[in-house]
Amino acid sequence: MSVALVTGSAGLIGSEAARHFAGLGLDVVGVDNDMRRYFFGDDGSTAWSLLRLTNDLDEAYSHFDTDIRDRDGLAQIFKKYGTDISVVIHAAGQPSHDWAAKEPYTDFDVNAVGTLNVLESTRQHCPEAAFIHCSTNKVYGDRPNQLPLRELETRYEIEPGHPYQSGIAEDMSIDGCLHSIFGVSKVAADVMTQEYGRYFGLRTANFRAGTMTGSAHSAAELHGYLAYLMRCVMEGRTYNLYGYKGKMVRDAIHSHDVLTAFEAFFRDPRSAEVYNLGGGRFCNASHIEAFRLAEEITGRESKINYIDQARVGDHQWWISSMAKFQSHYPGWRPRYDLPTILREMYEANVEVWVPR
Ligand SMILES: NC(=O)c1ccc[n+]([C@@H]2O[C@H](COP(=O)([O-])OP(=O)(O)OC[C@H]3O[C@@H](n4cnc5c(N)ncnc54)[C@H](O)[C@@H]3O)[C@@H](O)[C@H]2O)c1
Repeated sequence: MSVALVTGSAGLIGSEAARHFAGLGLDVVGVDNDMRRYFFGDDGSTAWSLLRLTNDLDEAYSHFDTDIRDRDGLAQIFKKYGTDISVVIHAAGQPSHDWAAKEPYTDFDVNAVGTLNVLESTRQHCPEAAFIHCSTNKVYGDRPNQLPLRELETRYEIEPGHPYQSGIAEDMSIDGCLHSIFGVSKVAADVMTQEYGRYFGLRTANFRAGTMTGSAHSAAELHGYLAYLMRCVMEGRTYNLYGYKGKMVRDAIHSHDVLTAFEAFFRDPRSAEVYNLGGGRFCNASHIEAFRLAEEITGRESKINYIDQARVGDHQWWISSMAKFQSHYPGWRPRYDLPTILREMYEANVEVWVPR
């Protein structure tokens, strides 16, 4: 028996991971306590996703409603499956900048200490397993905002010829910049994941993602911006757009493409790696551009409330370089560009996100 243990298994990445690894023939053990509902209210609850997962995967999926902060409870799950666990995908977390400042203890306990709990359980019970941590590009804090940018009609763009023109690489420093409370709890988790590779020899990787997205996202205002943007356009809700005249650029990667990258690492794991993970030049947009595309797809006009003040530490321009990952795993290619992502979101929700 080969088991994939997935934390945050009802969330966007966790649920895609559960389906993906079940599709490869592994038994999947999921850990998720719907804490996203506590963070973001009913819009954010992942209960619907868990229901779908248990229906779809049936006996291939076993669920534990355990909090990753519950060290002993978590260890019991790892003990039960032991060395049958061949891959751990750690996708449970508090994912929002803004929310973290409301409850710094909770944010740090979930993101930093929770990650330590998952790492230590892996070391104790399945040290040979590939360990994948969903880190974030927020570990670079607001340093990307120091890049030389030009303002174009609908977006910011990096100066032509800059070494990061095709995307920001992992050699960007994480020091000496503003991280936000969330950024710091994720840095702690990221560095600890590296250390369990370097110090204990575990096969760990941090995937430092920008925007990961897909129709399985429980779209809430404070997290999951592309899904939330699409939801607002479809429902006729007003979207609060903070700062940079809506010209800030993000790349986006569909959860399917995230999982093919995770699978590549699982098949040939390395130790203590860090990889930026995003749609790169293949899939990116400014907010304004994303709204235009959403309007084309839905045939509806968006309602945007522009607010001058940017969110603290928000990136003005982020496009990931996938060069390091692709040099290690040359077979990997992203499949979903932005129109495909937004169209899929529209089609999946056309009967749910109706005008109000
Ligand atoms: N989606 C993105 O754009 C993005 C970008 C960069 C990094 N990340 C990171 O990737 C990870 C997964 O992101 P996502 O978009 O799938 O998030 P998500 O919120 O959709 O999923 C996370 C899941 O973890 C669960 N969870 C939270 N706290 C828990 C706890 N204490 N115990 C057990 N379960 C808990 C939640 O209920 C939720 O179902 C997060 O750590 C996030 O910080 C996400």
